[in-house]
Amino acid sequence: MPKVLVSDSVDQAGIDILSQVAQVDVKTGLSPEGLVQIIPEYDALMIRSGTQVTKAVIEAGTHLKIIGRAGVGVDNVDVAAATRQGIVVVNSPEGNTIAAAEHALALMLSLSRYVPDANQSVKSGQWNRKQFIGAEIYKKTLGLVGLGKIGSHVAAAAKAMGMKLLAYDPYISTERAEQIGCRLVELDVLFREADYITLHVPKTPETTNLINAEALAKMKPTTRIINCARGGLIDESAITEALESGRIAGAALDVFANEPLESESPLRALGKNAILTPHLGASTAEAQVNVAVDVAEQIRDVLLGLPARSAVNIPGLYPEALDKLRPYLELAETLGNLVGQLAGGRVDSLTVRLQGDLADRESKPIVIAALKGLLSPALRERVNYVNASIEAKERGIRVVETRDASVRDYTDSLHLEAKGSLGEHTVTGALLGDGEIRITNVDDFPINVPPIQHMLFTRHRDMPGIIGKIGSLLGSFNVNIASMQVGRKIVRGDAVMVLSLDDPLPEGILNEIMKVPGIRDAYTVTL
Ligand code: NAD
Ligand code: MLT
Repeated sequence: MPKVLVSDSVDQAGIDILSQVAQVDVKTGLSPEGLVQIIPEYDALMIRSGTQVTKAVIEAGTHLKIIGRAGVGVDNVDVAAATRQGIVVVNSPEGNTIAAAEHALALMLSLSRYVPDANQSVKSGQWNRKQFIGAEIYKKTLGLVGLGKIGSHVAAAAKAMGMKLLAYDPYISTERAEQIGCRLVELDVLFREADYITLHVPKTPETTNLINAEALAKMKPTTRIINCARGGLIDESAITEALESGRIAGAALDVFANEPLESESPLRALGKNAILTPHLGASTAEAQVNVAVDVAEQIRDVLLGLPARSAVNIPGLYPEALDKLRPYLELAETLGNLVGQLAGGRVDSLTVRLQGDLADRESKPIVIAALKGLLSPALRERVNYVNASIEAKERGIRVVETRDASVRDYTDSLHLEAKGSLGEHTVTGALLGDGEIRITNVDDFPINVPPIQHMLFTRHRDMPGIIGKIGSLLGSFNVNIASMQVGRKIVRGDAVMVLSLDDPLPEGILNEIMKVPGIRDAYTVTL
């Protein structure tokens, strides 16, 4: 039974799902060294934001197949190291969207009306109404930095409350922004015009310290800033100074450059114009169930050999496309494996051509599957959908992707061409109506055979007696032939022979086959 380590506290609903297929150990509060020590035992790791999954952890996790982050941000996981090691990293991209958006809205309203300080003052015995004159958000301008899932939800709610919306997000279209009711503007315009600025972007080199002294200098003195996205988006010393000097009116921060926030951080000493919460964006009962279930289901699926819905490091495998593509991925992997074995030595380039209706499909996953197949004879289980592209790149394999909708021998077909140190080989395959794979062409010779585990391919001269001789030779080695097919273009010209075998070919038989007059080349293939 596989073993899953859960190293941050996650909702029981997730543990229950994992327990259906694995032994689940919940061990929270592990030191980095403690985690490195025990991780070799585990097939999967489930975390929230508390566990730092460093390169050292990943390298020690020699059995790890999947790391599941119950939340959105994977900045506590060394995704590059995981990808290199073929470990799938999954997250829950939508499980806490509503929770985070609602927290941002709660902070915006609380900041405007000094709710936390007013509450504190009443609880400490005071009744001071004059001290807490707030501001209305109605008819004010909200500037959203990042108009993705959370940003759009905040925008919709803010619009309903009568706010005007500006947004800065260079990766979304004007049409999308208009649909949400936002005017897309440059960052400088947003800084100058917004009364409230709310951040909903990931932390990247572009967004780190996005709100710095220079940006703060452009804002109105009445501006209030909300950060419910990621620590590090705001220069904390600059905002402390801006709040102390009255350069801006307020800030509500849920996330910090270092978490937990240092006890001596000057942010803690700020007054009623600052609200600090301890990374509570996703802390609702609903969101915790959502993210735990979402990620646990993906871990379960991967442990059962199924693909994950929200893998962050498998490019191009989008959940909605995956189900429809699965038969084509199998086709691509089989053909990649076949052409790799025919090519034998080093492969310098692989051309992947999507033909017929397949030409309209998303190609990236199909190319990745073909590379996985190509590399699997050499790398075995070390290569997977996660690292196939990197492994190919590191081996200097040039990948060319083409499409030709006009090829219509079959409705959908895939053609691979591998060029390498021992020459060039091509294979074509198609999916039949029932989803069965057929190899339909090898080295430009038409055939029609289903792939099976043990196969023998020959290139030979089409002449009397040759098929019989190969049959007798295999018989003398006690190899049973399941089926045989010859592909040729002209009678007595060059031909290929494909034998599907019930047994693996014994060592040394290829040398004997090569001695048969008329045989030019012979290749054993194990799929
Ligand atoms: P998302 O991917 O749906 O949206 C992010 C948006 O940011 C995208 O539209 C993208 O185009 C935009 N973007 C990227 N780089 C940008 C840049 N340089 N300038 C402007 N826009 C840029 O993500 P989401 O689910 O909306 O999450 C947003 C953030 O909230 C993430 O950082 C996530 O980790 C964080 N989050 C925090 C909490 C919390 O507990 N506080 C909870 C959930 C999510
Ligand atoms: C996230 O990225 O999902 C959030 O930071 C919430 C969390 O995991 O606490």
